[in-house]
Amino acid sequence: MEAIYQDIACRLQARIDAGEFPPGSRLPSVRQLAAQHQVNNLTALAAYRWLEARQRVVARPRAGFFAAPPAGADSPVARVLPSPAALVDVDNRMSRLVELSASDVAVQLHMAEAHHSLYPAMELARRLQQTLLQRPELIGAHLPAAQSDRLHGLMRRLAAGWQLELPADQILFCNGITEGIGLALRHLTRPGDTVAVETPVYFGLLQTLAALGLKALEIPCTPDAGLSLEALEFALRHGPPVRCLVTVPHFQNPTGALMPDDNKKRLLALARRHGLTIIEDDVFGELYFGTRRPTPLKAWDRDGDVIYCASFTKSLAPSFRLGWLSGGRHHAALERLRASNSLVSSTLLLGVLSDLLASGDYVRFGNQLRARLAGQMETVADAVLAAFPAGTRLRRPRGGLLLWVEGPEELDSARLLQAALAESISFAPGMLFSAEPRFGHCLRLNFGQPWDAAQQAAIVRLGRLAAEQLETQR
Ligand SMILES: Cc1ncc(COP(=O)(O)O)c(C=O)c1O
Repeated sequence: MEAIYQDIACRLQARIDAGEFPPGSRLPSVRQLAAQHQVNNLTALAAYRWLEARQRVVARPRAGFFAAPPAGADSPVARVLPSPAALVDVDNRMSRLVELSASDVAVQLHMAEAHHSLYPAMELARRLQQTLLQRPELIGAHLPAAQSDRLHGLMRRLAAGWQLELPADQILFCNGITEGIGLALRHLTRPGDTVAVETPVYFGLLQTLAALGLKALEIPCTPDAGLSLEALEFALRHGPPVRCLVTVPHFQNPTGALMPDDNKKRLLALARRHGLTIIEDDVFGELYFGTRRPTPLKAWDRDGDVIYCASFTKSLAPSFRLGWLSGGRHHAALERLRASNSLVSSTLLLGVLSDLLASGDYVRFGNQLRARLAGQMETVADAVLAAFPAGTRLRRPRGGLLLWVEGPEELDSARLLQAALAESISFAPGMLFSAEPRFGHCLRLNFGQPWDAAQQAAIVRLGRLAAEQLETQR
C-alpha cells in the first residue's frame, strides 16, 4: 500500500513539474486519480496527503487539490513569491496572456484596457496633426520651458479638482504608470527586499517585482473594502521587514475594489507608525462612474512619503503611454532615475495632452468614456449572473473596466479558459493574480469592449462551459 501511493504521488509530481498542471491549477479529483491508477479512492487520497505534507499540492475544502507554487515559494506568515522558479512562472503566465492579445481570438475579454473604438481616435488624430503643424518645435526632444510650465500648471489644476494639491516642481512624466512604479521600486528597494502587495494582484506588478528580484508579500484585498488594513498591520508586526507597499485604491485590478476614504486615512497612519512608504497606483482613478472622482490617498499625505503614480493610458489613449508621478520627498531621486532610465517622454504627445487639458476636451472625452463603461459594466454583470452557474458571485465595481467573477469553489477557471479559447473567447483566469492557488475559481472579465451580439453570445457560452465543467466533476 505504502509503495503504491508514493509511486502515484511521484508520478503526479512529475506531471506537475513538466508543466501539465501549472501552479494554482486544479488537479484530478481523488476519484479520477484512483481511476487513472486503478486503485481505490483511499490510496489516491493517501497520495494527495503525501504531496500535501511536502507542500507540493494544496487542499481546498470542498474544492479539491491544486498544484502548489514551486518549493521555497512559501513563508510561514504570508505568501512570499520570489524563488527563481516562481518568478519564471509569473513571466510565463504573463507572456501567454500577451500572446492572446496578439492572436486572432474573436472575443477578447482578457485585457485591462478599453476597446480602441471607445477612445476618440479621429479627434486625437486631428489634434496631433494640428499640434505638430502649429508648434513644429515639438519635434525636438525636450519640451520648451514655457510649454513645460504650462503643462505642469494644467496638471496641477486637474489634480486639484480631485483635492490633490501638487507642488509645481513635483510632476514627472514617464512611460506609462509601469515606468513610474518601476522607478519608485528601484529607488526604495534592493534585490531580496520584500514589498507588500494586494492579493489578488495585477500580475504585471508581480512581473516588475520579479524583474527587480523583489519578494511579494500578499495582503488580502476584497471587492467591497479593498486592501485589508488588519491583515497589513498583522504582517507588518509579525512578518519579514517590508520596504514599501504598492496599492491600487481605486477600482483595483482585478477586484474593482474602491478603498473608502476612511481606510485611506487609516492606511496613512498605519504606514507612518511602521515607517512604510506607499506607492499609490491610481491608473484607474479617472474611470469613476459616480459624480465625483475618488480622492487619491496622496491628498492626505502630510509627510511627502507617498509616491503617487497615475496614467492617461486607460483614460485617454493607451498607445500614448503617458504616465506620471509625484514623488513627495522622493521626487528628486526619482527624477534622476527617470533620466537614466528613458530620459524624457514624447514632447509631441505632451504637447497634445496640454492642448486637450487646456481646451476641456480631456474632460469631455473622459465623460463619454465613463458613460460607456458604466453602461457596459451593468450589461456585462447582468449577462454573467444570468449565464453562470448558481453560486457565482460578483460585486459591481464603481469604476474601471474590470469585472471580478467568483465562480463556485469547484470551478477551475484555467481549464475553463482552455475550453473557451477553443471557441475563440478569452478572459484572465484567477490563477494569474496570486502566487498562491487561492483564486483558481475566479475569472476577470473586461467590460471595456463594445457590447454586441458576439459579446453576449460569448458570455452565455462561458456560463454554459462553466456549468458543463461542474457537471462532469460531480
Ligand atoms: C493596476 C495596474 N497598474 C498598472 C498598469 C499599467 O499601466 P500603464 O499602461 O499606464 O503602464 C495596469 C494595466 O493594466 C494596471 O491594471
